[in-house]
Amino acid sequence: MAKSPLSLHLTFMFSLSMSAAYSFSSLSSPLSPLKPFSTSSSPSKTPKATTSDLLTLLSDRRSSSTLNPFVSRELNSCLKFLVPFTPNGIKMVPISCSHRKSLNSNRNGVLARREEDELIWWPPQSVLDLARLAFDSRGDSAAIHRVLDPTVIPVPDVEGSNEDRCQLTRTPYGFRFISEELNLYLKFLFELIVARAPAVGLNASLNRYDFFHGHIFLARDSGRLGILFHAKEYPAFDKKVFPYNMGYCQKGSNVSYDNSMNLRNILWLAPLPSDSTGDTWAAPGVLVVLDARPGGIIYRDIIPDYVKFVRTIYEDDFGEVVADVNYLDVGDVKPNYQLFIC
Ligand SMILES: *[C@@H]1O[C@H](CO)[C@@H](O)[C@H](O)[C@H]1NC(C)=O
Ligand SMILES: *[C@@H]1O[C@H](CO)[C@@H](O)[C@H](O)[C@H]1NC(C)=O
Repeated sequence: MAKSPLSLHLTFMFSLSMSAAYSFSSLSSPLSPLKPFSTSSSPSKTPKATTSDLLTLLSDRRSSSTLNPFVSRELNSCLKFLVPFTPNGIKMVPISCSHRKSLNSNRNGVLARREEDELIWWPPQSVLDLARLAFDSRGDSAAIHRVLDPTVIPVPDVEGSNEDRCQLTRTPYGFRFISEELNLYLKFLFELIVARAPAVGLNASLNRYDFFHGHIFLARDSGRLGILFHAKEYPAFDKKVFPYNMGYCQKGSNVSYDNSMNLRNILWLAPLPSDSTGDTWAAPGVLVVLDARPGGIIYRDIIPDYVKFVRTIYEDDFGEVVADVNYLDVGDVKPNYQLFIC
């Protein structure tokens, strides 16, 4: 679904402009009988939530207290944190470098839970630098592109995708960050999501039908760096529960279309720099599953109508999209997961 977005996006733009036209006409003639987009589920009194509200809620307490309390409460009920959310509960400065847990884990090769939490709240320096670069660039994705290594890396066959004529990535080649620590951090995010999501009801596997990509964005209002991950990308065709043909990449899928689809949007946010330049931060990092269950405010207000059945939140709604980050098993015999930024 994310890979053939053109027609969907056109539909989206079309419906956006239509609803804009509609709100004008409703201003000038409130009794107009023409109500092409009125929906019974959202009476006009109910405030609507936006992705911007969501980002505000996940920043510092002072900003989130400005939200409409209804929106705030409803959004909160749709957040399933993979790492405890600590808006102002922990020290607003990153732990000093000497104490910083490295991504290279401890002597057993395993990070303790608390160490993983800390890596989300206060990531390694290269990630903090990227967060500040994003913030200072005021939404300029080119600033992020400049810290990619220009070496072009072709995307090899992924679990037999070539045979199915399936191209998983936006382009047939990708890049990596110059900083190896940044690359490691992205891998860490994929692995941590897979490890922790079952506790909130999402069993995601790192394979080409399920969980293999996210979209790096720069938030429109705040300049915050984030990634919107999508799991359950290609559910298996099923006459009864999922009668949708999604093209070559769906062929052979064993992803079942069930309630865990509600949890397929996973949001990572880097720590949010404060306005002043320097080394001060307004909020620590966040890792959260966005619950798009029908009846919830995310499903109602944030998921566009034409993709409600697949529960897709679009990265463009969050801000300027920088690139996709793909974590693909390109191993021949043994699994070999590699990163491709496309
Ligand atoms: C996830 O997998 C575990 C272990 O296989 C299973 O017990 C659990 O029911 C699954 N949860 C969901 C929501 O599918
Ligand atoms: C689907 O297949 C993949 C790869 O063959 C495997 O890793 C995964 O566990 C399977 N998932 C289910 C739900 O059977």
